[in-house]
Amino acid sequence: MRDWSRRLYEETQLSVNDLIWAMFIIEGKGVREPIAAMPGVYRLSIDEAAKAAVKARDLSIPAIALFPYTDAGLRDAKGSEAVNPDNLMCRAAHAMKDAAPEVGLMADVALDPYTDHGHDGLMIDGEIVNDATLDVLAEQAVVEARAGFDIVAPSDMMDGRVGVIRKALDVDGLQNTQIMAYAAKYASAFYGPFREAIGSAGALKGDKRTYQMNPANSDEAMREIALDLAEGADCVMIKPGMPYLDIVRRVKEEFNAPVFVYQVSGEYSMIKAAGQNGWIDERRAMMESLIAFKRAGANGVITYFAEDAAKELSK
Ligand code: PBG
Repeated sequence: MRDWSRRLYEETQLSVNDLIWAMFIIEGKGVREPIAAMPGVYRLSIDEAAKAAVKARDLSIPAIALFPYTDAGLRDAKGSEAVNPDNLMCRAAHAMKDAAPEVGLMADVALDPYTDHGHDGLMIDGEIVNDATLDVLAEQAVVEARAGFDIVAPSDMMDGRVGVIRKALDVDGLQNTQIMAYAAKYASAFYGPFREAIGSAGALKGDKRTYQMNPANSDEAMREIALDLAEGADCVMIKPGMPYLDIVRRVKEEFNAPVFVYQVSGEYSMIKAAGQNGWIDERRAMMESLIAFKRAGANGVITYFAEDAAKELSK
């Protein structure tokens, strides 16, 4: 087909405005530490993350989602570091906002980077306890919002957390902080490289199937989304991305709310590894995966490819 015609009839467009850049941070200075399972992705020290924020601004990437690497020494049973206003995440937010205030910043609300058992919630007698975890999550969200994060994204999947977090933010005068609920988060094998990246892989005991969703379920995702929106989520997220496009489409059709997709670490690694082996065309596979999210109905995509995709889109 001729190019003019292809462009004229194109139903879906991907733009740089659709991208949220997923990024890992670590203590230190001048550090760009490679992550074995994610070629091309690095753990960045705060000064490097600030440079990346400037890069995001220059590329017009609207927002960055930050994830901290925490080594074993700072982890404990309660994930105490999560509520330390001087933790790595908060210091990074200050530095990044100083460097590029135009760029939106997003932080996970979940304890897994800080617990010695690697779980998202508090563990009592080997079980993740929902209600006791909520207070800590609310405090973590307030600490993050005060540090400058514009969007807090509860990824813990505890029931009732969105409402508790919204209330805590409002009480603290943080009405403008948005909540992006990881509304439908599946218990997925595709998170493997992420757990290495944040230092949880070795720590994690057991799995997260008691609080993350069964990949076989779709109606349940609709119920989770309805709850999160009713509790005050500004938008919802589906995760992982590519294996769950049907969920994205259903959310788009059943709810009048913005929906985001997280193209998770394992999805990135698959495309990257096959590309590096010369088995697929990495650039084309990346762009095809991103347009598929848009076609399914997503407003935007959280992705480790954001920088590469933004460059590609500006050609
Ligand atoms: C943790 C969290 C995870 C991811 C984002 N937040 C991992 C998990 O639930 O174990 C995964 C993202 C990715 O794989 O890129 N609360």
